[in-house]
Amino acid sequence: MTAIYTRAELRNFLEAEKAQSRQIGLVPTMGALHQGHLSLVEKAIQENDRVIVSIFVNPTQFNNQDDLDTYPQNLEADLDLLKPFLPKVVVFAPSIEEMYTDRVKAENYDLGGLDHVMEGAHRKGHFEGVATIVETLLRTTSPDRAYFGEKDYQQLLIIKKLIRDKGLDVTICHCPIVREPNGLAMSSRNSRLPKRLRERAGIIFNTLQSAKKQFGTKSVTNIEEWVEEVFRNEPDFELEYFSISDANTLIPVDQKHINKEYRAFIAVYAGDTRLIDNLALN
Ligand code: PAF
Repeated sequence: MTAIYTRAELRNFLEAEKAQSRQIGLVPTMGALHQGHLSLVEKAIQENDRVIVSIFVNPTQFNNQDDLDTYPQNLEADLDLLKPFLPKVVVFAPSIEEMYTDRVKAENYDLGGLDHVMEGAHRKGHFEGVATIVETLLRTTSPDRAYFGEKDYQQLLIIKKLIRDKGLDVTICHCPIVREPNGLAMSSRNSRLPKRLRERAGIIFNTLQSAKKQFGTKSVTNIEEWVEEVFRNEPDFELEYFSISDANTLIPVDQKHINKEYRAFIAVYAGDTRLIDNLALN
């Protein structure tokens, strides 16, 4: 399977497709594809005539050079995984120079405060990097639909806001989190975990599920204290944050209100590897 490497070549390809009124889906990824990505590709295939899977490790969304340097990359393996989806899927695998022509820098965005909490608070500049590359990908491909996973739920809300603010004509579609047998949310970073930690990392989802059970009867503060206690007793894992937040504004909640949707969010270090997850509470 081959890929398209330049924006010019991609535009030519898409022009010909659109001339035949073909519906285009975009699945943006950073490669190291897993079943979570494939669930997005499968949904995109059902809903479009052609699906562009972009594979690009975007440097401006990494706030930590080590994380960028060790981010798993294997284009050949990714192309092999996508082979069964030929000819509907076309891979776009540009270089850094291709995506950032002048300077490798994120643009400034007003993300309405959605970027001030959780991932945004702990990874400075991360969402401006994400918004920059997603906007570039959307403008390059002008898809009818673009697909994102709910594991990056905060990213999903930020991208929806970006689309509204920029008046981009694309439907944002999302797919549920795909999990390993022990409940660990699938992530490209899981491949960096030693086997023992990967097996034990099911504790993250188990904790979210217990938090959900407690949500009906206990206060948010009690649940937060309980989660902190769980991880204090787990030398293999370090809790970075746990937050129960409004599912639409991401504002952390102290008092529950009926008719509002809430979600629990968590970030945990397993050794050097940072893992995130989230779960709807009601
Ligand atoms: O979710 C990701 O993999 C990345 O943040 C994205 C959306 C591909 C942008 O680089």
